Amino acid sequence: MARETAKLLIVDDDRNLLELMKMRLESSGYVVTAAPDEDEAKAAVVTQAFDLAILDLQLVHQDGISLMEELRRVAPGLPAIILTAHGSIESAVEAMTRGAFTYLTKPFDARELILHVERALENRKLASEVDRLQGLLSERYDFKNIVARSGAMQAVLETVSRVAKTDSTVFVRGESGTGKELIARAIHLASNRGGKSFVAINCAALPETLLESELFGHEKGSFTGAVRTSKGLFVQAHEGTIFLDEIGDMPLAIQAKLLRVLQERQFYPVGSEKPVDVDVRVIVATNKNIEELVKQGQFREDLYYRIHVIPVELPPLRERRDDIPVLVDVFLKKFSGQMNKKMKGLTPAAMQRLMLHDWPGNVRELENTIEYAAAMAEQDVIGEDLIPLEKCAVEEAIKPLKEARENFEKKYLVRLLELTRGNVSSAAALAGRYRADLYNLLKKYVINPSDFKKD
Ligand SMILES: Nc1ncnc2c1ncn2[C@@H]1O[C@H](COP(=O)(O)OP(=O)(O)OP(=O)(O)O)[C@@H](O)[C@H]1O
Ligand SMILES: [Mg+2]
Repeated sequence: MARETAKLLIVDDDRNLLELMKMRLESSGYVVTAAPDEDEAKAAVVTQAFDLAILDLQLVHQDGISLMEELRRVAPGLPAIILTAHGSIESAVEAMTRGAFTYLTKPFDARELILHVERALENRKLASEVDRLQGLLSERYDFKNIVARSGAMQAVLETVSRVAKTDSTVFVRGESGTGKELIARAIHLASNRGGKSFVAINCAALPETLLESELFGHEKGSFTGAVRTSKGLFVQAHEGTIFLDEIGDMPLAIQAKLLRVLQERQFYPVGSEKPVDVDVRVIVATNKNIEELVKQGQFREDLYYRIHVIPVELPPLRERRDDIPVLVDVFLKKFSGQMNKKMKGLTPAAMQRLMLHDWPGNVRELENTIEYAAAMAEQDVIGEDLIPLEKCAVEEAIKPLKEARENFEKKYLVRLLELTRGNVSSAAALAGRYRADLYNLLKKYVINPSDFKKD
């Protein structure tokens, strides 16, 4: 915010001081409204938007702190500096705990006043930047930014939006890159906990002891390296959501602790005998077959039933190919924006490559493919040369039916002769054809049965 445009409200019943402050602040380039009493101050915030209020602690009818609170009902988040009398430490502390930005003890000189005002305004600028970024983030994880054209994904979104507001544990399953974390964040943001923290941890990324202290915290000195007491992620996620990724890799000892959290909303930090209460919503994810892990004794059955409350299955991208064009569109917009390019789209051949690929890395792989293409593109349309996917996929590109049928027949005949070791009678029987028909086909494709005879 440019200094000249910052608008300040000052309230003090000492008219001399009020006038003096107004002059000083105006000479520093601020636009100042001076109010000698509460009523004028309240009237002013109704008609104008201020960037900062400076309030004397002792006013005629009320104190400056309660006035600050009243003004904020009209102007939420209005930063305030409270002017306190010399020696009234207690009021200064109270002002701060009730949300004043800072306090200034009378008497103060002009330099001090300006310094405090500058700092408060700088802080407000930062705070609004944080708000803006948070707005951007929440937009990114909003349901509306999750591409779901396919029926399968629409069903997922329907489940997810229905359960978001509950506190039930959600169990997200899907191959890597299918959007498990995206869904988890979207659930969090759509829940009543959306304003609180979302904490994510990958259970496969840390060895057992570290994972345990990361999750549950530890007392200072509870193990070598524990030089400080740490609260742990469950405490960080208090009133919010914790996302336990790769839950299938959680060691059994930690599974027991997690079970206790889910059952009793309580746990013991490492090396501590004092239980900690937490209120967290748990979302877990895995790309493993957890039922199989339960059978093998690597995952606790009781924990499985506790977490498997609302299962959400994210289908692999190859099973929801109708999402591909929309995803391509979204990613192309995103990257051309970031790269300051004006990309129009893909050639039909490039799109066909995308539609036919198997996408083992799912949406993330598609996203990377588009990022690469957008970065490399020299024109505003992406051609197939910029979609370097493995050959197998390209080989399967759509061909005219006649050609496709011939390819198939040829492969089929070879397989048939391999199985029957070049015995045409057996091959004909297997194929349900007369020997003569089969001979004709073999001739057409120039296949020699004796090549398949093995001794
Ligand atoms: N339906 C979707 N719509 C838009 N973007 C998506 C969608 N699904 C996934 N993405 C994007 O794909 C990328 C991978 O998603 P995410 O990290 O959530 O997957 P994941 O299943 O957690 O992967 P991993 O198993 O590798 O951890 C992210 O950039 C995400 O924003
Ligand atoms: Mg993930």
